[in-house]
Amino acid sequence: QHLAMLSAVLTRGSSKLGRLISSANQSRCGLCTYENVASTAMVYESVFRQSVHNPEEFWAEQASKLSWKTKFNKVLDHRDPVRPRWFTGGELNTAYNCLDRHVEDGFGDQVAVIHDSPVTKSVSRITYAQLLDQVARFAGYLAKEGVKRGDRVLIYMPMVPETMVAMLGAARLGAIHSLVFGGFAAKELATRIAHAKPNVIVCGSCGVEPGRTIDYRAILRDALSLVSGGQHCVDRVVLFQRPGGLPLSDSDPGLDADWAEALASSRKHDAVPIEANEPVYLLYTSGTTGSPKGVVRPSAGHAVALNFSMNALYGLDPGDVWWAASDFGWVVGHSYICYAPLLHRNTTIIYEGKPVGTPDASQYFRVIKQHSVRAMFTAPTALRAIHRADSQDASSAPYRPLDSLRHVFVAGEHCDVETLAWARRLFKVPVYDHWWQTETGWPITSVCVGLGDDTMPPAGSAGKPVPGFHVQILRESDEDELGRIVIKLPLPPGTASTLWENDERFVSTYYEKFPGYYDTADAGYTDHHGHLFVVSRVDDVINVSGHRLSTAAMEEACLENPDLAECAVVPFPDKLKGHIPLGFLVPYDDVTKDKATIVADTVKQVREHIGPVGAFRMAVVVHRLPKTRSGKVARGTLASMAAGLPFKMPVTIEDETVYEPIKKELIDLGLKPSDPTLGNS
Ligand code: COA
Ligand code: AMP
Repeated sequence: QHLAMLSAVLTRGSSKLGRLISSANQSRCGLCTYENVASTAMVYESVFRQSVHNPEEFWAEQASKLSWKTKFNKVLDHRDPVRPRWFTGGELNTAYNCLDRHVEDGFGDQVAVIHDSPVTKSVSRITYAQLLDQVARFAGYLAKEGVKRGDRVLIYMPMVPETMVAMLGAARLGAIHSLVFGGFAAKELATRIAHAKPNVIVCGSCGVEPGRTIDYRAILRDALSLVSGGQHCVDRVVLFQRPGGLPLSDSDPGLDADWAEALASSRKHDAVPIEANEPVYLLYTSGTTGSPKGVVRPSAGHAVALNFSMNALYGLDPGDVWWAASDFGWVVGHSYICYAPLLHRNTTIIYEGKPVGTPDASQYFRVIKQHSVRAMFTAPTALRAIHRADSQDASSAPYRPLDSLRHVFVAGEHCDVETLAWARRLFKVPVYDHWWQTETGWPITSVCVGLGDDTMPPAGSAGKPVPGFHVQILRESDEDELGRIVIKLPLPPGTASTLWENDERFVSTYYEKFPGYYDTADAGYTDHHGHLFVVSRVDDVINVSGHRLSTAAMEEACLENPDLAECAVVPFPDKLKGHIPLGFLVPYDDVTKDKATIVADTVKQVREHIGPVGAFRMAVVVHRLPKTRSGKVARGTLASMAAGLPFKMPVTIEDETVYEPIKKELIDLGLKPSDPTLGNS
């Protein structure tokens, strides 16, 4: 009975939840005089059970914390099991919930955004009222340009607050934004422009990377000419000129508009409420083919789920400072730099810098200390980079103690046990690994600190299922420990509703193989306590520094080298970046160039077609690839061989002698390849 009451209160209000849990953690429950009743894990268990056994009641309660223009008439319509429609008939505006709501409640003077930019040596702050003013003006500008509900606005911008203004400005109008990460090359940008067909593109004058300035405008110009052969394919390009950035010398007056003038000359526009399942954004991510998938995010479910997560998972109260050290171009940037902290009235940090080298390994500690960060998110790669640059942990010393910090969360790739243990010693707070994907938009497994779960998961685990995600492992036989990680339908609010203009691919990629489940394409296992261990991707997706890339797209880029007849790209373990791509290049028989030239030419092609973020630098030239009798390249065996891991000769291999010369090339590259053993692969 006590737990039922507790759970009812927990779902009522997030700040109350925070207070209640902190009292529960002190072994005194806020509801009654019994001590230790609210065993921390039990609160999480109870909330989780409610979320999967009674999802409608659970999510209706969460939805009530937002401001709706029209209340939904049904919490969940899942007549079509793979496309659950949450909050049908309801209308809200996400940007309104991020900004107006808080200003109307009297929090206009609270700092909404801190832009901390070691690469430009500046720190600036924007209040909720100021951000609302800019967003409303930018929405007014877009409206003046004819942008309407459902139109697309593509954003190609660096890590500056104006990126967020552009996102929220589009969302305020009910338009759909689509961001492209700055590290992609013109061709990748062109693919996204051609597919999303934006009316307006917002572009920064430059991005600042260590040691060089990236001319975003030039990359966009190349991309536009690839899309349309020089003809206008968008109505307007809004150029944000950075102070001190590359000058916009060659603007096209018929196409280009200046960001500052656009804002100054526009009237504020009211928020346009949209139906709960209309998209707030589309975000391209890598899949198993060369063409990226445009993940479509339904507006209301997204807002409800993210608002819930800020307290339940990350343990924050409104007003707390939160830092997600990622980039707007990835899902983490969408969910946890922009939307979730604003929905939950936190102060969010936009960090324009690297964990190391801008200028040193102390920056994470400086930011935490200087801005009183209460909880943060980062990628394991970033922690490894700090550890590598500062093995004596000297850089954190001037900023100790980190009084404000309560928790650190990592995701994006597997976090090795050593890094996790080191980070816990360094930050002196719990560091939790948690797991999610672009498609889900928010974490699938975690330690839900706001639900009182302060148990430390075993090393290597990414925590337990987050309320709403009914995670299961499907194994081929009882003897297998490892299985496919799937999520029982219906998925909770906030997850992808389809792929942009590719609904067929949406169904076939995620729902056909295991009817009744969402297929995560990750493999793993759970222990007896329900902790999940994510072991690997089962498809051709590779995670480089926590950035999701497609090996198929890299193979396509390699083949732009006209000397190559075929190739294979596989992930290779890297101490810093988790994995890096390794290419096996097969030139045509009549190519006389030396191997080093073939590799250098191919590296150049990949950089030009995918972009520097692909980190493609390592390749060997071979004469043949291992293929099965049906002609499929046995990429898995190449990956295992290069990594020195045991692997079995595929029984269907066309020619067993193919591995020996490949092994020799790998040894010449300085690797320690393994030999195949006989038996089934
Ligand atoms: N715009 C343009 N170029 C970019 C870019 C951007 N936004 N981000 C990265 N690049 C470029 C880099 O300049 C680099 O180019 P180079 O090959 O000419 O040097 C290339 O892409 C690879 O960049 P990066 O992955 O950052 O590797 P790095 O070796 O420069 O830095 C780390 C190593 C560990 C510091 C860096 O990878 C890092 O900060 N990792 C954490 C990533 C992260 O937070 N991921 C979370 C995603 S949710
Ligand atoms: P993205 O869509 O870019 O967020 O990448 C999602 C993929 O990254 C997942 O499917 C996993 O393969 C991997 N991933 C994300 N977080 C983790 C984690 N905590 N542990 C292991 N793999 C992870």
